Amino acid sequence: MQIFRILLVLSFFMIHSNAQSQVKPDAKLTNENLYRPRFHFTPQQGWMNDPNGMIFLNGQYHLFFQHYPDGTVWGPMHWGHATSSDLVDWKEQSIALYPDSIGMIFSGSAVLDKNNTSGLGRFGVAPLVAIFTQHNMPGEKAGRIDFQNQSIAYSLDEGKTWMKYAGNPVLKTPNLKDFRDPKVIWHVPTQKWVMSLAVADHVELYSSPNLINWRKESEIGKNLFAHGGVWECPDLLSFNVNGKTAWVLLVSMNPGGPNGGSATQYIVGDFDGHEFKPYSTDIKWMDYGPDNYAGVSFSNVGDRKILIGWMSNWNYANVVPTEKWRSAMTVPRELSLVKQEVYSKVNSSTNSNINSNLLPNEFLLVSSPVKELNTAFTKTMSKENFVTEKIFSLSTEKNPIPNRIDLTSNAKLENDFEIILSNTFNEKLIIGYDAVKRQYFIDRTKAGIANFNEGFAAVAIARRLTNPYIDMNLSIILDKTSIELFADDGLTVMTALFFPTHPYTKCILQSKDGLPLKSLDLFSFK
Ligand code: FRU
Repeated sequence: MQIFRILLVLSFFMIHSNAQSQVKPDAKLTNENLYRPRFHFTPQQGWMNDPNGMIFLNGQYHLFFQHYPDGTVWGPMHWGHATSSDLVDWKEQSIALYPDSIGMIFSGSAVLDKNNTSGLGRFGVAPLVAIFTQHNMPGEKAGRIDFQNQSIAYSLDEGKTWMKYAGNPVLKTPNLKDFRDPKVIWHVPTQKWVMSLAVADHVELYSSPNLINWRKESEIGKNLFAHGGVWECPDLLSFNVNGKTAWVLLVSMNPGGPNGGSATQYIVGDFDGHEFKPYSTDIKWMDYGPDNYAGVSFSNVGDRKILIGWMSNWNYANVVPTEKWRSAMTVPRELSLVKQEVYSKVNSSTNSNINSNLLPNEFLLVSSPVKELNTAFTKTMSKENFVTEKIFSLSTEKNPIPNRIDLTSNAKLENDFEIILSNTFNEKLIIGYDAVKRQYFIDRTKAGIANFNEGFAAVAIARRLTNPYIDMNLSIILDKTSIELFADDGLTVMTALFFPTHPYTKCILQSKDGLPLKSLDLFSFK
């Protein structure tokens, strides 16, 4: 009985002691301290979905977002606003755009109109112009088909206050129900603004000299690429690959993602300001996990391509077990485009002979956490050139759960391994690699609360694309309710949410014969 009591006290202490190093030792477990992320943006209260209008201006990164401030489920959309000087620490600002008689404020983008092409600038101040969809709910309810149109608003005080353009909408729907999510860039060769717009099962490209008058240039995507659901939130980006320009069109799609529900595919090709010509019709995914959607890139950041995604999935976004707010953003990610050998077809889900799948020169989008994140973490453990025991602890006394795990393994082909986060309530989240199938996985079947959605308790998988004989590197970012896995320098990326009933208190690396590691670095968020 005495022993039982000691065990009980001990386990209580373990659960409540600095659990996941994020809940204070004797803090009462509340929904807020259990689930509010430490370093992923969430609104103070209310609902959030897509990132919108992301732009860098005078030392500040601006993140606008789909927001319903008066409820924790999707509702009349506003643009919320947050700013950060370092892409890590976000400060929520007052709401930027409110719904009006034309409609709610759906997703869109923002640009700095340096040359005042729009004429909306005053007193020599270049206007910040937001381009967004207005969704007219009464129109939709009345069975009309012209309820999504594009409008603009401008700010002369760096996004603090916004004026809607008097001539809205600036781009009217040609009577297509799904006609939304304008992402605008300045196309240097043609000296025009170019808008990519999601239109149900394809993307339409428009151009404009002034952000007000838009002309349709072309369409891309009908009957090509993935079509398991509606296309949303496109983004057109140019990359330099070995001295040549190649373009990437990001297209979010819901449902039909590789692990169910919402996901973002990408298409690589040429773009001349008029037409986008894809290099291939392969289906490629920017992130294979279930929880990175509607991601787009920042404007006005020079050659950098910095993306933030909405870290959720329309399958369950409205019912995840947070109380005061719903949804977080992913960490900002740096995108680049590479051309390299691929050892398994990007979209194949079956396992087959390695060499029969060799694709010699494939364009692939890679993502990695932005370098700004590096200084946000403190190293808590660092080890080189060793083989782990079969069960190797990744917990340190002060930090039971690392917030970041970076490792490079020179394991032989057949080495499986699992990183397991667990608590004493039999809940565990497993991130691993299956060497036979050559795939990474995130297993949240026993990770915690999952009864809010039928498909949530599942194993998400993603192929390893690189030559299986070369070293494997992983960077894993862990917050209270999210894991972001960047494998093989960001060639395979997976993002997933989880909701333990109590914080995880233990983290181990498990492998059958021990895992040879060239380096292992653990970090905790500062
Ligand atoms: C994507 C999306 C967009 C739309 C917005 C509405 O998640 O459906 O297409 O503009 O959300 O909130």
